[in-house]
Amino acid sequence: MSHIQPETTAQEQRKASPRQYVMCRPTYFDVTYSINPWMDPDSPTSAETGLAQWKGLFDTFVELGHDIQLIEPVPGLPDMVFAANGALVVDGKVLVARFRHAQRQEESAAYLEWFGRGDWSAVRQAEYVNECEGDFACTGKEILAGTGFRSDPRAHDEVREFFGRPVLGLTLVDPRFYHLDTALAVLGDEEVMYYPGAFSPQSRGELAERYPDAILASEADATAFGLNAVSDGRNVVLPRAATGLAAQLRERGYHPIGADLTELLKAGGSVKCCTLELRA
Ligand code: ARG
Repeated sequence: MSHIQPETTAQEQRKASPRQYVMCRPTYFDVTYSINPWMDPDSPTSAETGLAQWKGLFDTFVELGHDIQLIEPVPGLPDMVFAANGALVVDGKVLVARFRHAQRQEESAAYLEWFGRGDWSAVRQAEYVNECEGDFACTGKEILAGTGFRSDPRAHDEVREFFGRPVLGLTLVDPRFYHLDTALAVLGDEEVMYYPGAFSPQSRGELAERYPDAILASEADATAFGLNAVSDGRNVVLPRAATGLAAQLRERGYHPIGADLTELLKAGGSVKCCTLELRA
């Protein structure tokens, strides 16, 4: 007698795994300078609205069962809410950021201090300009590494040596997508989603070859920052306005969750930028 398993939907097959994230409350959030095309110091911003929206994201992660640790915001560092840029943590090793722009450089000291208090096998600051999870994303087989606007290409070699993992360098060409995490998100060990127009022809070719099943985002969803998303393998938290991408995710069996972070988008950041993953 043969047992024929009932066909399960893709949704049932996706498995969430609990994550550890570091976040930073946007107490001092503001747009007082412009280091990316989204930032306009002349248009008004509200730290209060930013804080309420950020709290919504925090609560979503807690409801999903993730463990959130907080780093204390520092007055005078309005971009510190974008914790993804502070460090890259893989296999319990920590590489702390070296920021390209003077306006953010003092953030590194806060991260060195924070990680210095923890139990990590190695903690040091990057030697070359390296905006960490803004430009580096881990899949199961390699670390994808962005360059073109922020992180120095030499940071790719430094990451390869420090973590002992393969690194695939990718070149960003559209200033609206100045960090890798604005143009590409890792959904699972083997799956990514990205906006092809953000990458050089060569990088586009490499992504197509290495991730043939990737979800490709439209320009409209990419400009809504839809790729600035955080996945736990099943639940994908992404900006609410990226409705096309949410539909594509649903079709692939993921569970998209829309977040409203429009206030923080005035600084050129959203869901992923606020979220630094700790990989033990
Ligand atoms: N205003 C910040 C900057 O330009 C935004 C950083 C967004 N973070 C990110 N991971 N993409 O540096």
